[in-house]
Amino acid sequence: MKKKYFKFTEGRQRSGYERMKIFSLGRPLYVDCYLTRVKAGAAIRRHKDPMRGKWKGKKHYRLNFVKPAKKGGIFSSEATIFLWNGPVFICFFRPDICWHEVSQVEEGARYALSFGWAR
Ligand SMILES: [Fe+2]
Repeated sequence: MKKKYFKFTEGRQRSGYERMKIFSLGRPLYVDCYLTRVKAGAAIRRHKDPMRGKWKGKKHYRLNFVKPAKKGGIFSSEATIFLWNGPVFICFFRPDICWHEVSQVEEGARYALSFGWAR
C-alpha cells in the first residue's frame, strides 16, 4: 500500500511545489491539514480549489500559517477573510471561490501549514 501521510508528494499542478498530508477527516467534521513546500524555482499558479468527493457541495475555508521564503513566494488572492503579515504570514480565505496563487520562490523555501474545513 502506498504511504499517503507524512511524505512530500508533488502538487496537483506539477509546477514544482510539494505537499504533505498531515490528516484528513470526513463526515461529520470535514477537516484536513497539509504542509506545503515551495522550493526555489517553484510556484503555485493561479487557481481555485473546487470541492470534490466528500467535500462536494460545501463551502471550503482554509487557514494558512506561512514561513515565507527568503525571496519570492508571495501569496495573492482576489479576496481574503483575514490576512496578517507578521513574522508568520497568516491568511484565511475561501479557495473554492477566490482565485489564488503563490509567485515563484527565488531564494529559500516557503512552507505553509494549511488547515482546511468545509461547511
Ligand atoms: Fe489552492
